[in-house]
Amino acid sequence: MRYLPALLAVSAVPALADTIKITVSDDSFDPETATAEKGDILEFHFGAGNHSVAAGEFDSINGPCVPSNEGGFFSGYFDVNSGESDEVFRVTVNDTEPIVFYSTQGRECAGGLIGGVNIKDKGQLEKYREDAAALSQGVAPPKVFGGVVAKAGSDSSDDGDDDSSDNNDGGDDDGDDDDGAAGSVRAGLAGVVGAAGLVAALMV
Ligand SMILES: *[C@@H]1O[C@H](CO)[C@@H](O)[C@H](O)[C@H]1NC(C)=O
Ligand SMILES: *[C@@H]1O[C@H](CO)[C@@H](O)[C@H](O)[C@H]1NC(C)=O
Repeated sequence: MRYLPALLAVSAVPALADTIKITVSDDSFDPETATAEKGDILEFHFGAGNHSVAAGEFDSINGPCVPSNEGGFFSGYFDVNSGESDEVFRVTVNDTEPIVFYSTQGRECAGGLIGGVNIKDKGQLEKYREDAAALSQGVAPPKVFGGVVAKAGSDSSDDGDDDSSDNNDGGDDDGDDDDGAAGSVRAGLAGVVGAAGLVAALMV
C-alpha cells in the first residue's frame, strides 16, 4: 500500500506546481537535467524501445546504477513500438536535493542513460556516468513505486479522485497489486461476492 501516501501527496500539491516533462529514449533523457521546486512533478514520457526510470544515489556505497537506499522511485518497464507511450510516470519532487536517475534496462545505465534534477555540480553527474560505464548492467527495484503511472495528458494537479482510479488502472498493467485504489476495488468485489454467498446460503 505504498501508493496511498504518494497519491495523497500528489493531491495536496498546489495548482501552481510545474510539471516537468522528461522524455526517455534509446540514448538520452531529454532534458538530461532540470531544475525543480518542491511540489513540482517530474513527468517521464517513454519513446520507442523498452526503457524505465529509477532513482539512484550519488556517492552510494553500492555504486551507480543501483536504486537509492532511501525513498526513490521506479517506473517499471515501458515497452513502446513506435512514437511515445500513452502512459507517463509522475513523481512528486519533495525538496530541492539533487536527484539522479537512470534506466534499469540491461546496459543502458552503463551506456550513459542517466539524468538528474537539481544537480548543483555538473561534475557529479559526469562522475556518476564515468563510474557507470564500467558496469555490465544496472539494478532494477523489484516493483513500481514512488510515483504514479497515468494517462498522458491527464491532469496531474487535480484533486485526484476521478483521475486516481484512471491512473491506477494504467498502473496495473504490470500486474502488481500494490496500489491503493486497486486494493479497494478488490475489497469491494470481495464484499459483493461475500454478500452473494450469504444470499445463496440463506436460500438453501
Ligand atoms: C522489457 O524489459 C524487461 C527488462 O529487461 C523485460 O523483463 C521485459 O520482458 C521487456 N518487455 C518486453 C515486452 O520485451
Ligand atoms: C516524494 O515523496 C513521495 C511520498 O513519500 C514519494 O512517493 C516520492 O517518491 C518522493 N519523490 C522523490 C523524488 O523521491
